[in-house]
Amino acid sequence: MRPAARVAASPGADGRSRGSPPPPAALFPADMVAPFASTALGVPVPLLHPVLVADPARHTEPFLPAECLSDEPGTVDLATLRDLTAAFAGVPEIWRPVIHHRSDRRWYTRLLLSATVEVWLIGWYPGQQTEVHDHGGALGALTVAEGRVTEDRYDRNWTITRVREHVTGSSVGFGAAHVHRVANRGQEVATTIHAYSPPELPMRFAPTQDAADLRAATVPPPAVGAPAGRDVASAGAAR
Ligand SMILES: [Fe+2]
Repeated sequence: MRPAARVAASPGADGRSRGSPPPPAALFPADMVAPFASTALGVPVPLLHPVLVADPARHTEPFLPAECLSDEPGTVDLATLRDLTAAFAGVPEIWRPVIHHRSDRRWYTRLLLSATVEVWLIGWYPGQQTEVHDHGGALGALTVAEGRVTEDRYDRNWTITRVREHVTGSSVGFGAAHVHRVANRGQEVATTIHAYSPPELPMRFAPTQDAADLRAATVPPPAVGAPAGRDVASAGAAR
C-alpha cells in the first residue's frame, strides 16, 4: 500500500525553531513523483499527470484518501468517488492550466491512475456530447468544475429514462449498471472531473444498426448489471 495522503508538517518537528513557518505540505508523497504513462507500458501505479507534480508546493491542502492512491487492486465506494471529483474540481490550480476546450473534438486527459481509481479531466465545447454508454461495471462520479452539462440517463435496454442538468459545483455518483449520455447543450464551455473504480474497465456503447455492432450486442455483458452493447478497447475515451 502507498502511504496515506500527507499532512501538514508541524512547526519544530524537523528541528527548526517553532517560530519558523512550516513548509507547505506536499500534495503527493515524494515516492509518487513519477512520469505519467499508461499501465499498459508496465509503469508502476499510481501515476499522476505532470501538472500534479510540477509544483506541489503551491498546493497546501491534502485531499487524496490513501485508498485512492493504492497500488493494490480494489474498489472505492461512491461517496469517496464523489468526494474525490469534488476535491479536484475545488482546486482550479490543478485543472485550469491543463484544460482545453476544442471545437473540433471533445478534449480529455487522465489526472490520476492507481490500482483502485482513475480520474479524468474533460473539456466540453458547446454542442459536444458522448455516445450512450455504460462504464463496464465500474462505479463512477463526476463533478462540474465550470459551466453546466446535461446527463441523459438510460435503462439497461438503452431507453432514455431521465434528463438531469448538472451545474458548476454539482457532484453525482453512478452505480455499476449506470447507462448515460453526457452533453454540453449550452452556449458556454464546460469542464468536468470524472472518477471510476475499479479503473480501466472497457465501456460499452449502445448498439447501432451496424452489422458488427449487432453481433456484439448478442454477446453476454462482461460485468454484472451491465447491458449488452458494443465493447471498446480503451477505457476513458468517452467517459
Ligand atoms: Fe459516462
